Amino acid sequence: MQVLGIDVGGSGIKGAPVDTKTGKLLAERIRIKTPKNAEPQPVAEVVAEIANSFNWKKPVGIGFPAPIKSGIAMMAANISEKWVGTNADDLFTKTTGCDCTMINDADAAGLAEMKFGAGKGQPGTVIMVTLGTGIGTAIFHRGNLLPNTEFGHLEMNGKDAEHRASDAVRQRDDLSWKKYAKRLNKYLAAMENLFWPDLFIIGGGISKESEKYIPLLKIETPVIPAQFLNEAGIVGAALAARTGS
Ligand code: BGC
Repeated sequence: MQVLGIDVGGSGIKGAPVDTKTGKLLAERIRIKTPKNAEPQPVAEVVAEIANSFNWKKPVGIGFPAPIKSGIAMMAANISEKWVGTNADDLFTKTTGCDCTMINDADAAGLAEMKFGAGKGQPGTVIMVTLGTGIGTAIFHRGNLLPNTEFGHLEMNGKDAEHRASDAVRQRDDLSWKKYAKRLNKYLAAMENLFWPDLFIIGGGISKESEKYIPLLKIETPVIPAQFLNEAGIVGAALAARTGS
């Protein structure tokens, strides 16, 4: 099945057609900057622009940086407040003219990694952590996802963890890898104490540079980079789409 996978991020909106049987991108992905303030209609128009560039009429899966219940965005951390309570499923379907299915972005990335990537065949508890503008989490047990976990907002030194250990914070504060690894270690150690996972998979743009910080981590649980690197969100969003089959 061919599905257009879209990953809506705090800085960019990316998309590519995906073969959901193999997890392979069928064309080079398109990336467009996220409109300022990331309000509903402008974001939907960017998604429509991406769909049009591929002349897309088939199903679309959209990974979105918020918990999603029945297509509705429940919270807004790094996007406009106007999303809260918006039926994103309907808005994207109307604006693109394609059947769109919404899923939380980290859940999408996790699905891709569990099916085709770093978590394939992992029977235990696997936590996917995406490090980008925010911190996203997806928790799997025996391959089953517990959707909409929001542990990027776990409190760390009196702040949301994503305000201390996201990749955006690393870049903004120009943290050395050593300093950043220390913050990430603290975050992962807290997650480890809460969930006792068998594996952490790190996704997001930063997964490309994993050799710079993963060796500096000192937790018990193995930590590995996402195999799809930053493309996991696109592939997983495609996997989550309603396809009528
Ligand atoms: C949002 C999550 C999202 C994560 C990564 C957080 O701020 O609350 O829903 O998965 O950022 O984008």
